Amino acid sequence: MEQILKTLPKGLKDDNLIVGYESKDDAAVYKINDEVSVIETLDFFPSMVEDPYLFGQIAATNSLSDVWAMGGRPVMALNIAAFPDGMKTETIGKVLKGGAEKVIEAGCTLCGGHTIVDETPKYGLSVTGIVETKKVLKNNGVKVGDKLILTKPLGVGILLTAHQCEVDTKEDFAEAVKSMTTLNKYSAEILFKYRVSALTDVTGFGLFNHLNEMLDDKCSAKLFSESIPVVNSNVKKYVEDDYYTGGAIRNEDAIKNKISFHETPEWIKQVCYDPQTSGGLLCSINAEDAKSAIEELSKLELKSAIIGEVIDKKDMAIYVE
Ligand code: CO
Ligand code: CO
Repeated sequence: MEQILKTLPKGLKDDNLIVGYESKDDAAVYKINDEVSVIETLDFFPSMVEDPYLFGQIAATNSLSDVWAMGGRPVMALNIAAFPDGMKTETIGKVLKGGAEKVIEAGCTLCGGHTIVDETPKYGLSVTGIVETKKVLKNNGVKVGDKLILTKPLGVGILLTAHQCEVDTKEDFAEAVKSMTTLNKYSAEILFKYRVSALTDVTGFGLFNHLNEMLDDKCSAKLFSESIPVVNSNVKKYVEDDYYTGGAIRNEDAIKNKISFHETPEWIKQVCYDPQTSGGLLCSINAEDAKSAIEELSKLELKSAIIGEVIDKKDMAIYVE
């Protein structure tokens, strides 16, 4: 994909585009003036759950996330969808209802959209957000000495795979859905009160690859494998029974040569390669602020944790202790 993008014309150079094509960030940011900037993002994907209403909720929660990941808040959203010819209106309605409810919960306005006919149902949102220009949070602003906070547990991809193979329990699936349908709004609103130097959300590339993008060859990171939050203890069991995705294998191939493991359990590695659908925020935060932030975050429903720290650039990008 990156190869293709490199060959495309970039359009007019515009100094007000403060986050654009060249960066690997979560969304584009356009500066209106020194006070206000606009955030623009688009995400949609095929369904990974049978229930159309839950699919709508998950897809919308995921699409909205990139706005908070830039330090902003969503203000308006458009549906983007594909449904097969002959799909029941009632089913389509459930997808759109799930999505619309999450848009409203986000404090955002749904203002239209576009649907095409396609064999595989797909749904998501294009979201516009606003942010104070000085408070745009790029994903690669990490500072040495910062702590790293993750605001949702990992393992959702593994649980969904187990669910597709019908080996999971109802509780496992419910916990995965709970995580995927929880807006990053709540953790973002807490984090925005503190000195955050970089912010992104953990999605398809898994924890290690998203962290590597944050480090951007400028710093390294130390992770504490015992602190990494996991949805539940069955995740370990499913990994040991080989329930992980093709995406996890690609994620591992992309980054494994940049990681140094020190007695890291194999299943924890797989959890960190696991592609997350609608995952949590990964935050690089001033070390003095990390403790108060995590105290506040721990009052939310989903597990947050300080999972490591940013260190001076060394041979490897990530050192897992
Ligand atoms: Co993102
Ligand atoms: Co995205």
